[in-house]
Amino acid sequence: MTEQQQLQCTAVLPPGLEECGGAELSALGATAVKPLRRAAAFRTDLAGFYRMQLQARLPFRLLRQLAAFPCRSREELYAGVQRAANWEQWLPPELSFRVDASGSLPGLTHGHYSALQVKNALVDWQRQQWGQRSSVDLDDPDLHLHVHLGGGQAQLSVDGSGDSLHRRGYRPRMGLAPLKENLAAGLIQLTGWDGRVPLADPLCGSGTLLIEAASMALGRPPGLDHRFALERWPDFNGGLWSQALEQAANNTRRVLADGAPLAPVLGLELDAGVAEEARANAEAAGVGSAVAIVCGDFRDFQPPQGPGVLVCNPPYGERIGEQGELEQLYSDLGRMVKERCSGWEFWLLSGNPELTGALRMKASRRIPVSNGGIDCRWLHYTIR
Ligand SMILES: C[S@@+](CC[C@H](N)C(=O)[O-])C[C@H]1O[C@@H](n2cnc3c(N)ncnc32)[C@H](O)[C@@H]1O
Repeated sequence: MTEQQQLQCTAVLPPGLEECGGAELSALGATAVKPLRRAAAFRTDLAGFYRMQLQARLPFRLLRQLAAFPCRSREELYAGVQRAANWEQWLPPELSFRVDASGSLPGLTHGHYSALQVKNALVDWQRQQWGQRSSVDLDDPDLHLHVHLGGGQAQLSVDGSGDSLHRRGYRPRMGLAPLKENLAAGLIQLTGWDGRVPLADPLCGSGTLLIEAASMALGRPPGLDHRFALERWPDFNGGLWSQALEQAANNTRRVLADGAPLAPVLGLELDAGVAEEARANAEAAGVGSAVAIVCGDFRDFQPPQGPGVLVCNPPYGERIGEQGELEQLYSDLGRMVKERCSGWEFWLLSGNPELTGALRMKASRRIPVSNGGIDCRWLHYTIR
């Protein structure tokens, strides 16, 4: 393919962050961005696709479409897949592969069977062509295919990310109930924090919100150490990839984009071991000097003067903590914020509306997001 050729692509995103994820891709140069359910469709060229793999913070993975074809039955899926791409290039029998499927069509309502149909179409084609077939490898395939069925169409894509992009590699230690890194990045983007006023998380756990916030403000790319599946594609362009890596690495700064200093980024964590892990994580992420984490109780939090942004993800009982104790914790948190954080914006990730009631505060925004399958709200309060 030529470097200018436009690719039709899909970003797989955390539920609730489709708009925000689409905006991030637009900022990285994507066009025709269309938020979908748990995804966003977009167009870009190969250089843009490489750039987004290395720099986008919100997606789980970025897919590149190989083909889209009319598809209303199992038979059309089978025949369409065999014609969909130059499989001689993309899938010689010595390469392993896996197929995932989403959506449905009449006669194929379960993703597992749709994926099986695609796999059968490919190995049958290989046997006819070469007398041998690829093996299926679910853990580390050479080629990871996705088929999406719906609206009388099949879209067949290849996953360029490999391992999920939310695994940044800075968090070998994870405290209790950690947020996924891409969800944390999205939550920070939703606050609109730009690094000019202090940001604090008074129940910071492994520090994910703070680390993602500081990385974003200082332009640290999330994906430099990631091993990308696209490096094994037949049309991998090593020169263009090196440029994308260099560009991403050059983005890193010690200050904000306009040269202004980064405001304090502060964390409090009750558990000394978890606080220590959070500091190690910040160090591993390259933002150790920008993020200050201390062991302590949020009840003793003293915010810096002036306006700021308070973010937190307190325990909400699904996984850790008990209801009675937690009600007390939320009630104390509400009191601390009202007494000491006047002029601050307060954002709280809630998975339990009864507990947030104990804050005795009225949210001005409630943004639905999903945290590890739990239906949550990213609640915004302005503290007067
Ligand atoms: C749900 S976890 C936060 C997870 C974090 N967002 C992350 O990604 O790792 C809640 C954290 O609050 C801490 N915590 C509980 N009570 C606290 C208190 N009184 N003061 C400070 N931290 C507290 C817990 O130890 C736990 O690490």
